[in-house]
Amino acid sequence: MAKITTSTLLKMKQSEEKIAALTAYDASFASLFDSVGVHVLLIGDSLGMVLQGGDSTLSVTNEQIAYHTKSVRAGATNALVIADMPFMTYYNETETMRNAHELMAAGANMVKMEGGDWLYSTIKQLTKNGIPVCGHLGLTPQSVNVFGGFKVQGRDNQKALEMIEHAKGLEAAGASLLVLECVPSDLAKAITDAIAIPTIGIGAGNQTDGQILVMHDMFGISSGYIPKFSKNYIELTGDMRKAVSLYIEEVQSGDFPDESRSFN
Ligand code: KIV
Repeated sequence: MAKITTSTLLKMKQSEEKIAALTAYDASFASLFDSVGVHVLLIGDSLGMVLQGGDSTLSVTNEQIAYHTKSVRAGATNALVIADMPFMTYYNETETMRNAHELMAAGANMVKMEGGDWLYSTIKQLTKNGIPVCGHLGLTPQSVNVFGGFKVQGRDNQKALEMIEHAKGLEAAGASLLVLECVPSDLAKAITDAIAIPTIGIGAGNQTDGQILVMHDMFGISSGYIPKFSKNYIELTGDMRKAVSLYIEEVQSGDFPDESRSFN
């Protein structure tokens, strides 16, 4: 596999080749995922839950994401590395620039931020300064207290139309990629068709341009709540490399996620 860049991901969308992404937090797993052929590695603020044992992502700091980004960078050869911007690290231009710079300097190829129209000018500013951005719409976990829990988003017509508009706006502002989390499959497809940049789904059906899972969910080692959209690939294969390989295969064939792991 050659080095994955934003142009590679765009070409994959155009040629209808699905993108397989996983979260990663250290060099060893980054290296394993990269060697099996995962296209995108995300240092997610999910680390607040799966590494630190918290019940949300809100306590994660920029410094912690930078630390794990440096580790993932050390293990990744070809995969594109995306670092999540944690809660309240992009609330104004100065903070955003400083924090995004820290993540890029730690080895990220792109930063990810959660939100819609309020991010347009921030994204313009970042891309103007050479920092590619991945958007994130739907269930944006940093807003869990606004949503009143981890709930599927965009089920009512007005919210669905608003999400489509925000996806178009994020693309127009310069975003290179868009994560769609916990949204009905039909809405994820409508967004995927409405924009030229690739969409990566998690709990968003199988018609997005790619899929992402939290690695602990894919290995079946998350404690407590296991999301409906997740799949335990270790149970199916009994081996980490085979698990990742089967995940990539099922993402690319469209077999993952099936109806039982999607929302209406
Ligand atoms: O933090 C994270 O791991 C994420 C993915 C679930 C997309 O944002």
